[in-house]
Amino acid sequence: MNKVILVVVYLGFMGTFPMLSHAGPDEDLKAYQAYFKQQFPDFKDSNYLMGMYNFNDDKRRQWEEIMEFPPYEFVIEKGERLFNTPFPNGKSYADCLENGGTGIANTYPRFDLQEGRVRTLSMELNRCREKNGAKPLGLLKGDLPAILAYLAETSRGMPIDIQVADDPRALAAYEDGKRIYFTRRGPRGFACYHCHWETAGRRIRGNELSPAIGQAANFPAYRSKWGALGPIQRRYKGCMKNVGAKPLKAGSAGMNNLEYFHRRLSNGLPSNAPAARF
Ligand code: HEC
Repeated sequence: MNKVILVVVYLGFMGTFPMLSHAGPDEDLKAYQAYFKQQFPDFKDSNYLMGMYNFNDDKRRQWEEIMEFPPYEFVIEKGERLFNTPFPNGKSYADCLENGGTGIANTYPRFDLQEGRVRTLSMELNRCREKNGAKPLGLLKGDLPAILAYLAETSRGMPIDIQVADDPRALAAYEDGKRIYFTRRGPRGFACYHCHWETAGRRIRGNELSPAIGQAANFPAYRSKWGALGPIQRRYKGCMKNVGAKPLKAGSAGMNNLEYFHRRLSNGLPSNAPAARF
């Protein structure tokens, strides 16, 4: 614990963050979980999944009202229809995915040892389309997020389980995602870390800040602000823009590695996607 505090203090002095440790993904996760446990001693899994609504009773009530008729329901139905519509050659998405796509969303992104890079579930779907003569879909809006929502629904409640294989390339991708998470951005030099780690639970411009652990278990999510359901990379882009930085491109290696690192922070929590957010 002392080590964690020391490291956090040390980070405060740095222009660009060093890695929190070089101990490896499993030790990292233990240290991160211990840090949040210390910050929020009473948190249960359900609190981690509730994000910012833990910290504001009015907003929590509003959110609970929204959840009485979850706005993502119709998107899940649309996604199911799309998923089950065969390609012109008679093949379908289910033919491309492990277990026909059911109950696997909680294990993505994965590191593909053959290709030597992180693969998101969106990439898996687009690869399937191209293999079957269809054009790839846009990553952030429209049909692809709807299919993601349907697949996520089939693994709701299953533990988030992001694996970093004992392979130097997988470790490098994880470390790159971690570096991106701790990189300062924009004119005021905000890293993800500053808002969702160091000051999680506090307010910034009228918003309570959700802790880094748990966030990714809720995505893809329907956001009232978007009036749509979107994948987590769309949310990352929003946070990058909000600090005045040029966002990384959706589907780029950096974005995928960030998703790999960030989603792994929620390992062990039950998948809660799709969720609803303001
Ligand atoms: C200046 C503060 C700030 C920074 C820096 C920041 N965010 Fe956010 N982020 C917010 C606010 C405010 C929200 C909305 C309230 C909430 O859910 O925390 C948010 C929401 C999110 C959410 C949605 C959480 C949920 O439960 O719906 C994710 C995921 C997220 N941020 C990831 C990131 C990542 C990754 C980075 C770094 C690239 C980042 N944020 C940088 C302020 C920030």
